[in-house]
Amino acid sequence: MRPLVQAGHSAGRAAGATALAHANIAFIKYWGNRDDDARLPANPSLSMALEALHTVTTVLFDDRLAQDEVTIDGRPASPAARARVSRQLDLVRRCAGWFAAARVVSRNNFPSGVGLASSASAFAALTLAACAAAGLQLDESQLSALARRASGSACRSVPGGFVEWEMGQDEASSFAHSLAPPDHWQLYDVIVLVSSSPKPVSSADGHRLAAGSPLQVARLSAVPGLLAACRQAVLNRDLAALGAIIEQDALLMHAVMLTSQPPLIYWSPATLEVLQAVREWRARGVPTYFTMDAGPNVHLICEAAGAAEVAALAARLPGVLSVLVSAPGGPAHLVEE
Ligand code: DP6
Repeated sequence: MRPLVQAGHSAGRAAGATALAHANIAFIKYWGNRDDDARLPANPSLSMALEALHTVTTVLFDDRLAQDEVTIDGRPASPAARARVSRQLDLVRRCAGWFAAARVVSRNNFPSGVGLASSASAFAALTLAACAAAGLQLDESQLSALARRASGSACRSVPGGFVEWEMGQDEASSFAHSLAPPDHWQLYDVIVLVSSSPKPVSSADGHRLAAGSPLQVARLSAVPGLLAACRQAVLNRDLAALGAIIEQDALLMHAVMLTSQPPLIYWSPATLEVLQAVREWRARGVPTYFTMDAGPNVHLICEAAGAAEVAALAARLPGVLSVLVSAPGGPAHLVEE
């Protein structure tokens, strides 16, 4: 496979690169790990890259820096966020054999702090930029596996379009690949924001609770069948088949969350308003289907022709703060700064 990362550093004492990666929405969710440290997932998952939502990250390794410096959306990162970035940079430094500290500047083009997950796009962009800056030559699978170490869903933001993350057996074999390019299907995600607060329990903490739910075993046994049907629905561009599967899997994941110890209740009353409205719209002939992540916001999946109507309907619901619309996006890539 053609190396995705080709930039290198020679005798220079500083080297940098900038990368862009899109967020993604999972149709079959990643929830729970077999190995939390290595982020080896309890189940395979399938997602679509989101064209409208991206992170652009610059990494500059510089021998003169005393420690990593991380800026996110124009502000210094919190100590916890900086530690997570440094842990990922440590993996890159170890692979490259170059132990310089780095200056990291990261920007999301979507509003932060509104409960939209940015870790997938952020860590995919960070990993690609850091590898390029350090002169590591990795192919797409290796890059995806490395991004996975920082955030599971980030491995799905390395390839573009419709993406499957196979569980794999070990570190090296757990990565994501593209099932179909973005232009395979003009499927839209109408993102309905009902909350502006950060989620109370992070995904990382949530994954650790999954095994404590008696329903996790049931979901894990259902996933292989749902995943196969989901893959087929995507390949056939069959919205009705896809819709039924994504709604069932999102509800299965939330059933696991609701029955964990302590329970994770991510929904707000407005979440339920949206879910009920979707069923009414469908009964009236508007083809759209919901999915949710670890938060109260709702993603409505529909075809391009219906996206404007779905977005307008959603914007009128009580409790809805704003609506974003996205087509399928491409792979993570290096950009000129
Ligand atoms: C509910 O990838 O955010 O969005 O690996 O701890 O960063 P970490 O978790 P993360 O988990 C995503 C959970 C989800 C479902 C999904 O995107 O598949």
